[in-house]
Amino acid sequence: MTSAYTDVDTTAAAGVYPPQEDSHLLIDVLVAAGLAPGARVADLCTGSGVVAVAAAQAGAAEVAAFDICPQAVAHARRNASAAGVDVAVHRGSWARAIEFAPFDVVVANPPYVPQAPVDDTDSIPRDAGPSQAWNAGADGRMILDPMCAAAPLLLDEGGTMLVVHSECSDVHRTLAALRAQGMRAEVVAQQLIPFGPVMTARAEWLTRAGLLEPGCELERIVVVRADAP
Ligand SMILES: C[S@@+](CC[C@H](N)C(=O)[O-])C[C@H]1O[C@@H](n2cnc3c(N)ncnc32)[C@H](O)[C@@H]1O
Repeated sequence: MTSAYTDVDTTAAAGVYPPQEDSHLLIDVLVAAGLAPGARVADLCTGSGVVAVAAAQAGAAEVAAFDICPQAVAHARRNASAAGVDVAVHRGSWARAIEFAPFDVVVANPPYVPQAPVDDTDSIPRDAGPSQAWNAGADGRMILDPMCAAAPLLLDEGGTMLVVHSECSDVHRTLAALRAQGMRAEVVAQQLIPFGPVMTARAEWLTRAGLLEPGCELERIVVVRADAP
């Protein structure tokens, strides 16, 4: 799938994650599912704001976006303004969204790449974006676990969460965590993509850690959809 909603400056602003396959897969699912029109939407780790802007362009009634990185916040605000849409971009943890809840739709492309014990930042090209955009602890779940746990606090009755992440960060755990809270959860989209610079740098360690099949040269990214009762 390719996103029709790329009305955002995709050149990497210094220190901001440039929209990539995961960003576009998430947007495609959001738009194809028809979830945005009239909805209150939260974009939890907004980066450039590409997903938040797409939600607004797809007819969301309100969009709130969150990021801990000041450069991302400034870039997302510029992109929303250039696209002529209203997005309230808040600086701070994704968890701040709980203050503004409940939402009809929550979207997230959080950091999800498992992090090697040795700091490898210098071996990763700068245009991959800042390490806080991908590093997510040894199992890749540093943000995913608390985000899944917070889903009922974020969503209105009947609301929907869409989260994109890699198979390396344990899709079954995401599904189990969301189902354990009484939500319906399933993988609704997936894509095999060539390794980007971060996966390339970490492939050997990920394989040794048992997080990647030996010899694997493609990464499967998925979108998990969870619906609140
Ligand atoms: C993979 S990027 C996704 C950016 C954008 N949503 C996209 O799809 O292109 C993850 C973003 O999460 C932000 N981030 C990292 N930790 C965060 C946290 N605890 N709370 C909010 N944002 C966070 C990073 O600064 C980065 O902009």
